[in-house]
Amino acid sequence: MLLFSSKKELIAHLATLKNTSTAVGLVPTMGALHKGHLSLVKKAISETKTVVVSIFVNPTQFDNKDDLKKYPDTLDADLEYLKKVSDELIVFTPSVTELYSNNISSKEYDFDGLDETMEGEFRSNHFLGVATVVEKLFSIVKPNKAYFGEKDFQQLLIIKKLIKKTNMPIEIIGCPIVREPHGLAMSSRNERLPKGIRVKASCIYETLLAAKKLFGTKSATNVMNWVKNKFDKQPEFELEYIKIADQDTLGPVKRKQKNKKYRAFIAVYVNGVRLIDNIALN
Ligand code: PAF
Repeated sequence: MLLFSSKKELIAHLATLKNTSTAVGLVPTMGALHKGHLSLVKKAISETKTVVVSIFVNPTQFDNKDDLKKYPDTLDADLEYLKKVSDELIVFTPSVTELYSNNISSKEYDFDGLDETMEGEFRSNHFLGVATVVEKLFSIVKPNKAYFGEKDFQQLLIIKKLIKKTNMPIEIIGCPIVREPHGLAMSSRNERLPKGIRVKASCIYETLLAAKKLFGTKSATNVMNWVKNKFDKQPEFELEYIKIADQDTLGPVKRKQKNKKYRAFIAVYVNGVRLIDNIALN
């Protein structure tokens, strides 16, 4: 496994490989790796010859300084974890200065409204920070393919939009959500939940499954109200949002149309930890 913290050295190394026309896959992460990340890395290994995993906790995507401070730093364990997957991975662990120099700020982007709802509404400038760091990583690694999890479905759409708007020749691959045995979507934040609460939090996924069933016969508004009522009755869970939207535009569902794909999105606080999840409805 090769480890780089200097972008110059990584670029130089990748240039030697690109001379032999190797396909490069990039898996951007913020560390605290779990089985969800593992599935992205495995998919990248199966589709590209050279796989770069970046580990970088990106300050510009946190609107809450406390959240950034609490973000787990498990670099040694992450490297061990990756080594077990493949000894041929390239791992990029830049410092904040290496990526941002002295200007730790986000670029401005126009995502055609994709960033104005849900995560974008509740975490101000979050997606500008995500797009800024992802664009930096893309321009350093110049991957042929980049891999993102569908747990952050809105992020996935925004990265696809970024590619479209900047004309970068990169294929964005969305990978299915990986769940804990009881159904909770895998997330680095789950580590902050006591075991018992994690099991209880499986009710988030159960509610999404029930919402999917209801959506067969009820309107989006009815289903969203049903979910709100369900969480009103569970005081240890604080529902931040439930939204049923067109999965391509994230616009509201006015009238269900057969040729459109819809998805339910949810954010819930439990034990002070913010969890998100989503499900395809048709
Ligand atoms: O999904 C994440 O872990 C982050 O948002 C990403 C894409 C690595 C950018 O910091």
